[in-house]
Amino acid sequence: MDPGLGPGLVGEGARWLQLSEVAADARFFGLGGRASGPRLRDGVYRLWNTDPGGSFEPGDDPLYLTMPVQLVVADAGTHLVFHDNSWDGTVTLREGEEGAGSGHDRPGCCRTRMEGGPLRYWVIVGTTPARVLNGWTALTGAPAVPPRWALGHHHARWGFRDAEEVRRVVAGYRERDLPLSALHLDIDHLIGHRVFTVDGARFPDLPGLAAELLEDGVRLVSIVDPAVKAEPGNAVYESGTADDVFVRDAQGREVRGVVWAGESVFPDFTDPRVRKWWGGLYAERLAQGFSGVWHDMNEPVSFAAFGETTLPRSARHALEGRGGDHREAHNVYGLAMARAGYEGLCELRPDERPFLFSRSGWAGLQRYGGSWSGDVATGWAGLRASLSLVIGLGLSGVPYSGPDIGGFTGSPSPELYLRWFQLGAYLPLFRTHSAISAGRREPWEFGSRVLEHAAAALRERQRLLPYFTTLAQLAARTGAPYVRPVWWRTPKDRALRDCEDAFLLGDALLVAPVLEEGARRRPVRLPRGRWYDTVTGRAYHGPGQVVLDAPLSGIPVLARAGSVVPVAAPGGGVELEVWTPCAGRKGVGAGSLAVDTGDGWEKPELLRFTTRVRDGEVTIEREGGGEVGYPIRVRGEAPPSEDRPGPRAS
Ligand code: GLC
Repeated sequence: MDPGLGPGLVGEGARWLQLSEVAADARFFGLGGRASGPRLRDGVYRLWNTDPGGSFEPGDDPLYLTMPVQLVVADAGTHLVFHDNSWDGTVTLREGEEGAGSGHDRPGCCRTRMEGGPLRYWVIVGTTPARVLNGWTALTGAPAVPPRWALGHHHARWGFRDAEEVRRVVAGYRERDLPLSALHLDIDHLIGHRVFTVDGARFPDLPGLAAELLEDGVRLVSIVDPAVKAEPGNAVYESGTADDVFVRDAQGREVRGVVWAGESVFPDFTDPRVRKWWGGLYAERLAQGFSGVWHDMNEPVSFAAFGETTLPRSARHALEGRGGDHREAHNVYGLAMARAGYEGLCELRPDERPFLFSRSGWAGLQRYGGSWSGDVATGWAGLRASLSLVIGLGLSGVPYSGPDIGGFTGSPSPELYLRWFQLGAYLPLFRTHSAISAGRREPWEFGSRVLEHAAAALRERQRLLPYFTTLAQLAARTGAPYVRPVWWRTPKDRALRDCEDAFLLGDALLVAPVLEEGARRRPVRLPRGRWYDTVTGRAYHGPGQVVLDAPLSGIPVLARAGSVVPVAAPGGGVELEVWTPCAGRKGVGAGSLAVDTGDGWEKPELLRFTTRVRDGEVTIEREGGGEVGYPIRVRGEAPPSEDRPGPRAS
């Protein structure tokens, strides 16, 4: 023990270990995108961005996007600890135990061990999770607001053979009247997998194809991998070599690795000069007609038969001019690449907000864009893992993400595909995707029943778009993720703290996906207050658990009494769906609407509404006065009298 380091801290060379205690009832969350949780149970969580290779399931750790950000939720309050240190490390968590009134509580314990770098940490303490996340985004930046279209449905696939196949898929959506916002081109549209190229034999006129798809309202999104094939004649390699942008070793030689295109070099995104160069390359993507980018393999990955599948730890990096090596740069490589891409797009197309999402990243990624699950294994376990990952990322400050619907590998059963699709419809990034060797993921590939129910999920997503765009604005202003754990507003409800199979979408909706094969009913744990089944309008009263029908036609979604959900009106425009508030003074409800201002930088007005029941009538008012200005639709069974809260859940 180095006495100079202070209590609870053990130093050993450049390494250090910090021990901390938390309340016996505390639960841990966060640490980036993890395959299990969102409650992080006892165990060791590694801080080293890693492509698990192939695919992942619950239990695989670490994954692509780790960060030393933990959220600790206890009866006494919520706090967030951020170790501002990007080195390799581990966080070992052990939940405490309460002595059931005996006075012998065992506190929880957290050991943060870092292989190097400073002990520099921030603690954000607050009364509620919302305040803490607000502090976190004040520290690391507001989440980027995706363009509106990015909140619709995306379809991707590794292995579209050519432009004709892309046309066929888009036509398949159109002919069945299924809304589609974006189609993603994976590495197979490139010449021999070389970044910033287009295989003209298979995609003879990509700008023409992009314009044609746009007429159907479908945008093209391009994969962008960081590795650059090291070969003379490759324009990106030659330009990068001339500008000296690639990572070198201590002897000054280019560090080479192997990725999809073969022997490759890696831009050093920790150098502002290199970011500028890389950002300029996105001009080619825009000229090809792409509307957004999908950053992949940026942990970074270099394939290896044995040893680590990334750059050697001795590789040198600029680290913003300080200089250092890959031990420190590894975890921020994807973050710095996202910054390069985002800043490049802002400069090249200043009137539009960029759309960018990235497999790897670190604290602060949200400033530039979102993320996705990566290669989640197809299976019921993978479905669950993908939900854990999205909620965990949101609690780490990255609110926009979603899974590969249907899973990345193999072929899901029709039922699994449908349940994944129904979950995905309520997550910020709503994207079907799969590996080249995997089965199809179009909604019509699983039989007419699945198609019918997937179409209903797609239509519901379209209807909820004004709510999603509002949630995107709220995330940018407050740091609150779109997808929140069920305990978000009631963190002292211990049963909710342990609930991992449902989530809140904003303040208004509680979504209870089906995560088990064969389930046609499922238990749903409700936070306190009155909740309406959005299909039947029937009211339930929390806290407590109810068992709800979950037929193949749809998963249970409940609406909070008094909430205001902006939705697409049947005849166009926006209407406000008001869920009948509880009677009485305590029954005042609320909701917001971000007034659509397009895909530029104008900050939309955020209207706030309050609702209440007056003389048996549901009323809505705009905060600050003035006309409500939108059609209203009241939903949910009429409130019981003031002193009877309605059927209570068990
Ligand atoms: C990685 C990505 C996956 C992509 C594939 C090919 O595995 O995670 O989404 O399809 O690479 O580019």
